[in-house]
Amino acid sequence: MPAQRKLFVTTALPYANGKFHIGHIMEYIQADIWVRFQRMQGNQVHFVCADDAHGAPIMIAAEKAGKTPQQFVAEIAAGRKPYLEGFHIGFDNWHSTDAPENHQLAQQIYRDLKANGLISSKVVEQFFDPEKNMFLPDRFIKGECPNCHAKDQFGDNCEVCSKVYSPTDLINPYSALSGATPVLKSSEHFFFKLSDPRCLAFLQQWTRSEGRLQSEVLNKISEWLAPDESGKTVLGDWDISRDAPYFGIEIPDAPGKYFYVWLDAPVGYLASLKNYLDRIGVDYESYVAAFNEVEQYHFIGKDIITFHTLFWPAMLHFSGRKVPTKIFVHGFLTVNNGEKMSKSRGTGLDPLKYLSLGMNPEWLRYYLAAKLSGRNEDIDFNPDDFIARVNSDLIGKYVNIASRTAGFISKRFGGKLGKEDPGAEAMLDAAVAAANEVKALYEAREFAKAIRTIMALADQANLYVDQKAPWLIAKDSSRDAELHMVCTTAIGLFKNLTVMLAPILPSVAREVGKWLAADVHEWDNCYVKLAEGHEINPYKHLMQRVEEKQIDALFEPAGEVPPPLPSPKGGGSEYPGGEEIAPVISIDDFTKIDLRIAKIVNCEAVEGSTKLLRLTLDVGEGKTRNVFSGIASAYKPEDLVGKLTVMVANLAPRKMKFGVSEGMVLAASDRDEKSAPGIYVLNPWPGAQPGMRVR
Ligand code: 2FM
Ligand code: ZN
Repeated sequence: MPAQRKLFVTTALPYANGKFHIGHIMEYIQADIWVRFQRMQGNQVHFVCADDAHGAPIMIAAEKAGKTPQQFVAEIAAGRKPYLEGFHIGFDNWHSTDAPENHQLAQQIYRDLKANGLISSKVVEQFFDPEKNMFLPDRFIKGECPNCHAKDQFGDNCEVCSKVYSPTDLINPYSALSGATPVLKSSEHFFFKLSDPRCLAFLQQWTRSEGRLQSEVLNKISEWLAPDESGKTVLGDWDISRDAPYFGIEIPDAPGKYFYVWLDAPVGYLASLKNYLDRIGVDYESYVAAFNEVEQYHFIGKDIITFHTLFWPAMLHFSGRKVPTKIFVHGFLTVNNGEKMSKSRGTGLDPLKYLSLGMNPEWLRYYLAAKLSGRNEDIDFNPDDFIARVNSDLIGKYVNIASRTAGFISKRFGGKLGKEDPGAEAMLDAAVAAANEVKALYEAREFAKAIRTIMALADQANLYVDQKAPWLIAKDSSRDAELHMVCTTAIGLFKNLTVMLAPILPSVAREVGKWLAADVHEWDNCYVKLAEGHEINPYKHLMQRVEEKQIDALFEPAGEVPPPLPSPKGGGSEYPGGEEIAPVISIDDFTKIDLRIAKIVNCEAVEGSTKLLRLTLDVGEGKTRNVFSGIASAYKPEDLVGKLTVMVANLAPRKMKFGVSEGMVLAASDRDEKSAPGIYVLNPWPGAQPGMRVR
């Protein structure tokens, strides 16, 4: 067993001025898959992120919203959880670059750089908005790129040719805050002396060392480090200070000066790590002191390469800190090739809307994984492709293996597995080879290729099941041994496929682990067979198919009410009872609801309400409960007194206008009152007693 590796992994810190978009979620899913894979290898991983809280744009947005920047970013941070939990993104810690750890670390790094002779200062003329009375942040000055002449580029770098420059280099600049033509005004600025020969020498060596950067990324930044005829490079000193008013970290011994947000943002990686280690009782200083044992990886998008491959490693190295092991750059995610989508399908993919429609997060994880490679290249979300990959591959291939064989094991063999099929040896060997191959592919973040290999194995397993046709063998009781063997073999392969898919499908893997009573979260279990006689639990369906209607609803432009769903029978909804079956829950979810038989010992109208009846219920507790129920339109009190029904007995008491309701009575109704009127209170078969649990 190789020694356990120690990994410190981050994703880029999102600006705290907006909700997550699908691009953030893609990056987090990519990193989360890799982290889960590493943990399955037995490696120790600290996986952290934080809000990137500082900078002029956030300060300006907060002011517009009538809030302090601190309030503003706290509100954004409070909205992060549903996304992260919803898509099973398992950061160990979520912090903020405005936290005390970051103030201290950023100031210390600055002091260390200064002590190393790498900070200089000079008076610079800078654009000032005469209408707004403030120095204009780079992002709020726009103009023509001095390099490629693209119009309307920001003041810090060009999005077309990627050139980094200072705002004063822009042609025909204007203030994006007021539209005014900015005027030049002097102020002292601090610089990180990247032009120092030591920096150049370090960066040339660091960026080119084996495996550090993807080749396409190295190509992209090479122009920065290549000397021209006079021996100079384009890498100039980096302006790291901003004048008040600014939301940021104060520069030591320089009143009224703050760090430019990009100075303290990556320091936030370390601040979040420190905060996490403090929380789990590990000393940060000792952890970082052993930094040559620790591998440090940053997942980022292609728009922030320069900061992470030049400025950040130089800051770390020359302040005496450990440098990143690798920077993993991914491309952008477009939706439908960035094309304007048809009217009925809108344009964007809103992650929260996706979840609120009850769409399975693991569909998206699977789909993105099926597209992601280790290269810096854009990927596209294509709705039809999404449906096909989820339904044909994930469900039609993977889940299908289990759903076609599981039932026989429980029904015919008491849940016990048998022997594996000796005739399937070639396929079982292929599974071991696949596990080795897939492991290398995950390590290299070649998730699409990993999925292709996994699905090729699933194809083999399905072919095996097709050929053996257990449903036919099952008809002949003299062939029980064969039936047992075929199903055992298929389920063994399914277990292996599950281990290999576990980084992508954490929740499905958990359910499979429970079903098979086996550990599917350790990679090496790909090489371990389930023993003969091993007992498994009854199979529950693992995943629903995605429906085209869900995709339509997902891309429905906001604000427009979708037309009623057509019914194949004509009229009404095609869903049973007028609504779609809710997303699958586990048995554990279900058992949280404590349903009991209740006797309606009394029932009366509620004065002032036409909807409610007040029920007095006996659930065998030696006291009665008071429950309000919206069934007055369907029942007269005397219809109900003395009858039995079913109630939710562990619902938190709710204070209502007419009193406290201590539970809920179950009743059936169609969602659309018009297509099927009426409310029907549940009534158990004779013999049920008050207090009996309904399960
Ligand atoms: O581009 C961005 O969204 C930045 N907030 C990323 C910062 S990454 C790190 F340096 F903090
Ligand atoms: Zn340009």
